[in-house]
Amino acid sequence: MPLAPFPLRIFFGREICVDICIHTLLMYSYVPGTRCSWEIIFLNIRTKSLSRLYVYIGGGLSLRNSPQVKSWLIENLQVAVVTGASAGIGAEVVKALVKKGFTVVGLARRKNRVQELATELKEEPGKLHACECDLTKEEDILAAFRWIKAQWGGVDVLVNNAGVFKLSTLTNGHTEDWKHILDINVLAVCICTRESMQLMEDREHCHVINICSVAGHRIPNLVPSFLHVYPASKHALRAISDSLRAECARNKRRIKVTNLSPGTVQTEMAAGLGNLSEKLTEEDMAELSQHKVTLQSKDIADAVLYVLETPPHVEIRELIIEPLGAVL
Ligand SMILES: NC(=O)c1ccc[n+]([C@@H]2O[C@H](COP(=O)([O-])OP(=O)(O)OC[C@H]3O[C@@H](n4cnc5c(N)ncnc54)[C@H](OP(=O)(O)O)[C@@H]3O)[C@@H](O)[C@H]2O)c1
Repeated sequence: MPLAPFPLRIFFGREICVDICIHTLLMYSYVPGTRCSWEIIFLNIRTKSLSRLYVYIGGGLSLRNSPQVKSWLIENLQVAVVTGASAGIGAEVVKALVKKGFTVVGLARRKNRVQELATELKEEPGKLHACECDLTKEEDILAAFRWIKAQWGGVDVLVNNAGVFKLSTLTNGHTEDWKHILDINVLAVCICTRESMQLMEDREHCHVINICSVAGHRIPNLVPSFLHVYPASKHALRAISDSLRAECARNKRRIKVTNLSPGTVQTEMAAGLGNLSEKLTEEDMAELSQHKVTLQSKDIADAVLYVLETPPHVEIRELIIEPLGAVL
């Protein structure tokens, strides 16, 4: 039976929602003389248990369960949290998830940009909610997760995407810059993960995706002088992914953990490298310009969907994505 998109969703409190849809009733030939029905779907968002109430036009009422509809609904009610949702890879991941029907909470300091994205996506099956959050401030992160818990009761997917890179060197760089990078690329990931793990209790099919980097696997040696603590932060992130996976296995928590490592992606972060000319020698710049191949943010968003859509027993642990021909 094809399901029409739900025209009406009513929430009762935070946990129960009712979807009402109407469809032709060709399959229900056992109700004599009816051609269509109202179908009212009661869904407990927290436990994801579901009941359907049919009201047959021409008479009749029945209450039933349907695994087919249940899986359709669960897909539609999955809650995903994406950090760094206002730009680059994060914004593209948010788009992809909303188009797939996820309820997405996008964290960033520039809330207005996430709100603009939400408006752009308002016709899509899912919904984006903007949440202002400075990831260098633990109280901001805790407040964001308190709000998520109050609104949706839990989290199914966490994409730790936000990350920063500053032009600096280990020889002359500033301690404050290094602390800032470690705060966002490492510590904020740990805090968001801890808070999400608590909200993933009692939920099936949970997934943590950490947007790492090829710099989390090796130190690019073409123009190494500006990389300073960034590769260290991404190596740490990869280790955190492994530790989290081990912790989940020990505690028998069936949560998938994916470490996703892109090469260069055309984003604001990559654009910042344009200022390299001030920092590098002409020789270095000439060498760098020979290797300008990049990925697009959508390539990474597609990869996020790919890892999310694997069957329940499959976990993609590492995914390295490079632009073809990259040498860095
Ligand atoms: N671009 C690349 O070539 C590349 C390659 C490999 C890996 N990566 C990784 O991919 C991830 C995304 O990178 P991107 O290129 O998409 O970066 P981007 O375009 O610079 O976007 C960074 C995102 O992080 C958020 N962010 C930065 N500081 C924040 C803070 N203090 N609090 C909250 N959010 C903050 C920004 O939001 P606000 O400014 O609004 O707060 C923005 O949404 C990063 O982890 C990066 O390391 C990027």
